[in-house]
Amino acid sequence: MRRTEFRVLLRVLGSAAGGGSPQWNCGCQVCAAVRSGAGPPRTQSSIAVSADHRRWFLLNASPDLRAQFEAFPGLHPRGQRATPLEAVLLTDAELDHTLGLLLLREARALRVYATPAAHKTLCDGSGLLSTLRHYCTVEWRAVIPGADLSLTDGLSCRAFDVPTAKRARFAAEADHGRVVGYRLTDERSGGTLVYLPAVQALTPALRAEIEGCGCLLIDGTCWRDDELVRLGLAGKTAREMGHLPIDGPDGSLAQLPSLGAGRTIFVHINNTNPILLADSPERRAVRESGMEVAADGMEVQV
Ligand code: MLT
Ligand code: MN
Ligand code: ZN
Repeated sequence: MRRTEFRVLLRVLGSAAGGGSPQWNCGCQVCAAVRSGAGPPRTQSSIAVSADHRRWFLLNASPDLRAQFEAFPGLHPRGQRATPLEAVLLTDAELDHTLGLLLLREARALRVYATPAAHKTLCDGSGLLSTLRHYCTVEWRAVIPGADLSLTDGLSCRAFDVPTAKRARFAAEADHGRVVGYRLTDERSGGTLVYLPAVQALTPALRAEIEGCGCLLIDGTCWRDDELVRLGLAGKTAREMGHLPIDGPDGSLAQLPSLGAGRTIFVHINNTNPILLADSPERRAVRESGMEVAADGMEVQV
């Protein structure tokens, strides 16, 4: 096949937030409905991206990584220890985005892109990278918001800072660059993809990063800001946990259409969010606004 026939391909490996859907210890209405078939189960948050459909970049390393790799032939080895996995890019140091790093410990070497703040948390906070280094060589590449990352021919990438008020469980509060989003550009087609699985507010700077992109994958954690509080499952609102709710006058459903993304797809969906159910009014509202709900295995050409 001629190179020009390739366009950047993305695969949603896991479309749920931390815990997955259904979550092991949750009997909420949505989890119960998913258990009885009202929507497919979903694994935890990660996507894979490739410019040549042969070498793949992982954006976040989910605790469900092993099953996600097995479910996707693109990530199967091409020979003894010949993995098509090139590197892992992290948006933050959250457990649902990083526990999978330990599951890659059989690698000879692993290239990991993370901001200095996330790297510090992974070494001194959760300790995941310090542990991983006992098993394989970890090549850390510092992600600096605003600076271009050269990943591979035909695919350019830039991280941008995502302000968050989420309390860090094991990082210094003030750490700048705790959360980033990524903007990837297919240099051949000019197509752009923005990956933003955790965002609390669409600030002017973030809106500028998103504007006019071909495909936006964005935080769809909660439908309502007080979703978990109302269910008695948490004391914090979605925003207090670093996630912009979908519904409401300042929610993402109201704000996103004006940004002109070619496709807008909700990812990192919490198990309580009724958009997970195929027949819910909330799912219909997303559809009627021209947006989409990610499912595991979904693929998009950028
Ligand atoms: C979050 O982003 O708030 C989570 O998905 C929570 C978690 O990982 O437990
Ligand atoms: Mn999460
Ligand atoms: Zn639930």
